[in-house]
Amino acid sequence: MKTTAIIGGSGLTQIESINVIDEQLYITPYGDPSAACIIGELGEQKIIFLARHGNPHTVAPHKINYRANIWALKEAGAEQIIAVTAVGGITPEMSPARIAIPAQIIDYSYGREHSFLAEDNNPVQHIDFSYPYNESLREQLIASAKTLKLDIQPRGVYGCTQGPRLETAAEISRMEHDGCDLVGMTGMPEAALARELEIPYANCSVIANWAAGKITGEITLSEIIKNLEQGMADTEQLLRHFLLSNTQ
Ligand code: HPA
Repeated sequence: MKTTAIIGGSGLTQIESINVIDEQLYITPYGDPSAACIIGELGEQKIIFLARHGNPHTVAPHKINYRANIWALKEAGAEQIIAVTAVGGITPEMSPARIAIPAQIIDYSYGREHSFLAEDNNPVQHIDFSYPYNESLREQLIASAKTLKLDIQPRGVYGCTQGPRLETAAEISRMEHDGCDLVGMTGMPEAALARELEIPYANCSVIANWAAGKITGEITLSEIIKNLEQGMADTEQLLRHFLLSNTQ
C-alpha cells in the first residue's frame, strides 16, 4: 500500500475523515514548507496532508515555497501525491462546483523557484514532462468518481497563471485559444517538482467560478466560496473512496 500525500488548496485545509496521529514540520534545504505535514490514517492507509497556502490560509500562490513543500512530502515518506486546486472554468463543460481531473498543463507562471535540478555546478538534467500527471493515479481518481456517481470531467488542460490577481478577459481568451480548459495559480511548478523527485502526482481541480469574461459582470468572492464548498465536499468523498481503494 502506497503512502499518499494530499496537498490541500483553497477550501481544503484539512480532511475530516482522517484520523490524525502526528504533525511534523520539516526544515528542508530549500527553506520552510507552507505548514507542518499532518500525518494521519484512514483505515489501514497512511496519509500525509499539507496545506499549500499554510494553516491559516496566508501564503499567496506566487509566494508558496513549492520546492520546500514537495521536498517535505518526500521526507515524510510520500509515495504518491494528489494535489487539490481551486480553478476557474474556461470551456463550456468546466462549470462551477464541478471537479476536473486534468490531463495536461500549460505554464504561464514566472519567477518561481521551479527546479531541484538547476543548482550551480550540478550536471544539467532534463526530465520528461510530456504527460505531466501520472496516468494510473488519474484513472484511479476517475474510477472512484464513477463509482460514487460524481459528475466530474475526466480531462482538461490546466493553465497556470501567476496570480494573486484573477486574469483579464483577454488573457482568458488567449488561454482558450492556446487550448486551456481550466485556469489556476498553483498547479506549477508543483507538478514538475514532483516529477523531478519521481513521485507520481495527479491533480484534482475544483471549479470555483467561470473564468474572466465568461459571464457578464464581476467574479465575486461569495460565488467562489459557495461553489468551492460544494466542490470540496465532493472532493472529500472522492479522496476518501480513492484512499480506501488504494490497496496496491
Ligand atoms: N483564475 C485563477 N485561479 C483561480 C480562479 C480563476 O478564475 N478561480 C479559482 N482559482
